[in-house]
Amino acid sequence: MSNALRIDGKEKAAEMSEQITAQTAELLEKHGLQPGLAVVIIGEDPASHVYRRNKKKRAEGCGFHSVQHTLDAGTTEANVLALIDELNNDDKIHGILVQLPLPDHLDEQTITQSISPGKDVDGFHFINIGKLTSGNTADAFVPCTPAGCMLMIQDHLGTNLSGLNAVVVGRSNIVGKPMASLLLQAHATVTICHSRTKDLPGVVRRADIVVAAVGRANMVTGDWIKPGAVVIDVGINRIETTVDGETKSKLTGDVEYESACEVAKAVTPVPGGVGPMTIVMLMANTLRAARLSAGLDG
Ligand code: GUN
Repeated sequence: MSNALRIDGKEKAAEMSEQITAQTAELLEKHGLQPGLAVVIIGEDPASHVYRRNKKKRAEGCGFHSVQHTLDAGTTEANVLALIDELNNDDKIHGILVQLPLPDHLDEQTITQSISPGKDVDGFHFINIGKLTSGNTADAFVPCTPAGCMLMIQDHLGTNLSGLNAVVVGRSNIVGKPMASLLLQAHATVTICHSRTKDLPGVVRRADIVVAAVGRANMVTGDWIKPGAVVIDVGINRIETTVDGETKSKLTGDVEYESACEVAKAVTPVPGGVGPMTIVMLMANTLRAARLSAGLDG
């Protein structure tokens, strides 16, 4: 029997989006300022273009100035850097995002570090990473996926996570590491696990909060979950399933949802959990960037 609460990221993202839309209208009316978001995408990766379209739709829905630049997969690093330089100097643009992954010949670090820290709505610049890890978040940009996960965790457990064990599975710069920093800042006791962790199920079983961000379909099963834990599933994996003899492709997370629900207090579904929150946090970061650029509170 399934006991857990389904954490509805889609609904929460829609509510937040309404608030951002209202705040954007107010910013325009009172200060003549319209938040501007530029999304740069290189090449034709279909999944990346789906994300790009979703970001554009949401940005326009919030009332932002939204621009998109699609560069050829074979474009040079100099071209990409020239475009970022132009956007860094464009007063109408407050947030810049270069969609990852990049084609192999482009250096991710050179490109992400060329974005002005004040327009780095992905939170990938070393200045923003340093601010987050040192706890100086007043004007830092926090990566969108962990920021969205944190809001969902706080909805269920409050803002003070003192005494709780949090286990983050995955050590990426985009999710695992910033997620651990946020949890630590909220006073959780944090463990980061990865492919070389010994007895991963045993470590996860001690967690009051589990964040799974490894990219392996259904890896975390119900027997890994501590009764009453809050489980956040960051994975978006496309798998093939057979329904009535027909092979179909479907999205699934890193957590086996049904079995986790038998044990956990609350679990995010895939799709409809973390994904919509990531996009709305990008809008929140862009609105914040616009406000901070005008000397207003972020
Ligand atoms: N590709 C997958 N997730 C992300 C993200 O959060 N930001 C960027 N720029 N690219 C991504």
